[in-house]
Amino acid sequence: MRHLIDIKDLSVDEIMDLIQTANDIIENPEKYQNACQYKQLATLFFEPSTRTRLSFESAMNSLGGKVLGFSEAASSSTAKGETVADTIQTVSSYVDIIVMRHPKEGAPLVASRVSEVPVINAGDGGHNHPTQTLTDLLTIYREKGGLDNLTIGLCGDLKFGRTVHSLITAMSRYSGIKFVLISPEELRIPQYIKSDVLEPRNIPYEEVASLEDSIPDLDILYMTRVQRERFFNEADYMRLKDTYILTPDKLKNAKDSLSVLHPLPRVNEISTEVDSTPYACYMRQVKNGKFIRMALILKLLGVTV
Ligand code: CP
Repeated sequence: MRHLIDIKDLSVDEIMDLIQTANDIIENPEKYQNACQYKQLATLFFEPSTRTRLSFESAMNSLGGKVLGFSEAASSSTAKGETVADTIQTVSSYVDIIVMRHPKEGAPLVASRVSEVPVINAGDGGHNHPTQTLTDLLTIYREKGGLDNLTIGLCGDLKFGRTVHSLITAMSRYSGIKFVLISPEELRIPQYIKSDVLEPRNIPYEEVASLEDSIPDLDILYMTRVQRERFFNEADYMRLKDTYILTPDKLKNAKDSLSVLHPLPRVNEISTEVDSTPYACYMRQVKNGKFIRMALILKLLGVTV
């Protein structure tokens, strides 16, 4: 039985297989419409979500399976004090696969140790978000035609941004990758990402504060939200939240081929005026999320089409 807790749980070859399956699903959706008939997926969201939960639910529906679950801890027995382990043991006796988001780092790993069925981490605190990373990889592959030889700027909350941590971990396994890490001093990338991921692989990276100065070098610009829910102190959030706001004017020196990605939701870090520029890829990225999650469900359930 396989789980997906960290993007490193998948090899580079397995990720390429998932990308190829997702591309085939996009081209031939009817081939897959009954692939998970009689299978059930549970979405257990202890933290808010729009894209991740609904794309998983849409993915399972499009595979002919069924979905059950909850979208907030308050509507589950967690509100009565039930542990994650007991919740997972219970739900895993009802369904074939579990998707789980939790505010505590490591909760999906705990879940995977007691579950009778595959567990997918749909985001754990400020730690990891591997299915967002699969979405990002499919998007980069489709926009750029491959995953090698790219200069990737990551901008915003690099400290608490779980999508950033998982994406750096994933992209570090491809060749010719450089990172430009754009953040205020207080929201720099955690030391463990540098010492455990970037430095052992000799991946070139620079930490900078200016978005405008970085843009001309980039093939990908991955914008992120400064996340109010991760701050202990409202004053710090208010001070940092508007540090970066991408506007069409700031893109005037960008490469023509620059792709702007964002895991969403956005607050105001990308002006809506950017949406109609050729750089904006984030709404295509949202759509890709459903197809790569369909591919992942098939893989973890061992269903071949
Ligand atoms: N990208 C992402 O995780 O979005 P949601 O919080 O809406 O699921």
